[in-house]
Amino acid sequence: MGKLDGKICIITGCASGLGKQEAIRFATEGAKLAICSRTVSKLEETKRLCEEKGAEVLAMACDVTDPDARERFITAVVEKYGTIDVLVNNAHTTTILKPMMEKTLDELELETKCCIYAYFHFMQLCFPYMKDKPGYGASIINFASKAAREGTPGHSVYATVKAAVGGLTRTAAREWGIHNIRVNELMPNGFTDNCKTGLLEQPKEIQEWATHSFKDNPFGRPGDPYDDVAPVVVFLASDESHWMTGQNLHADGGVWITD
Ligand SMILES: NC(=O)c1ccc[n+]([C@@H]2O[C@H](COP(=O)([O-])OP(=O)(O)OC[C@H]3O[C@@H](n4cnc5c(N)ncnc54)[C@H](O)[C@@H]3O)[C@@H](O)[C@H]2O)c1
Repeated sequence: MGKLDGKICIITGCASGLGKQEAIRFATEGAKLAICSRTVSKLEETKRLCEEKGAEVLAMACDVTDPDARERFITAVVEKYGTIDVLVNNAHTTTILKPMMEKTLDELELETKCCIYAYFHFMQLCFPYMKDKPGYGASIINFASKAAREGTPGHSVYATVKAAVGGLTRTAAREWGIHNIRVNELMPNGFTDNCKTGLLEQPKEIQEWATHSFKDNPFGRPGDPYDDVAPVVVFLASDESHWMTGQNLHADGGVWITD
């Protein structure tokens, strides 16, 4: 028996990175999936891997910055499955790391649209199909980042939009608990396929710094997206987390430890 048996789960941004591994992990736990990314070419590979695990999958192109595309995606999900149990707002386009005075308003707009506009709108679109479910209800998981808490230099835009995820998550948690919907925020740390390929294009000193930073945790090793991060997302999606809402969790191997 899987932890997500029969649950209709939406995960955004599944062509690669954490989203791809979350989708595969959800598939092994019995979820029925709806996954998206900007284009379908790489997403088809994720779909195939999930189907190999026995999952039913709707895979659709959806640029999460486009409100019409968001509506088309959720309409297709509801047409196929009739309801929605879990929404994972995972997709994000991170603009280049650079000092705040060099960041542009276009970069701020892009990250705001793909993060906070998309999260907010997807939550609104899913609400009618998630509300007032019997049993332990529905779950929303919003991906944020510790960059928002620590103020990582170079990440002024990223940190700004990811900080807004906390306000959205906590407000929705308070408003929607009465409707049996829980809403939590997750700050992950995982060394993804994109981290690996992206690093190869960087100067040697950046490669060394980044490789070190991914191991800079109490375990002294990089987090694995499938083995380390995805199980925490499964937990938040599953009924096991039914008494948790409005929380900020770190699936990061202890990179961030506070009281
Ligand atoms: N990997 C980490 O250690 C880490 C750390 C902190 C926070 N996060 C957060 O976790 C989430 C996943 O991170 P990741 O490392 O896998 O990122 P990533 O860049 O490796 O992958 C992002 C995924 O989203 C998709 N995507 C990007 N823009 C999109 C758009 N406009 N529409 C649809 N799909 C789009 C990409 O194609 C890709 O599949 C993000 O919200 C990120 O901010 C990740």
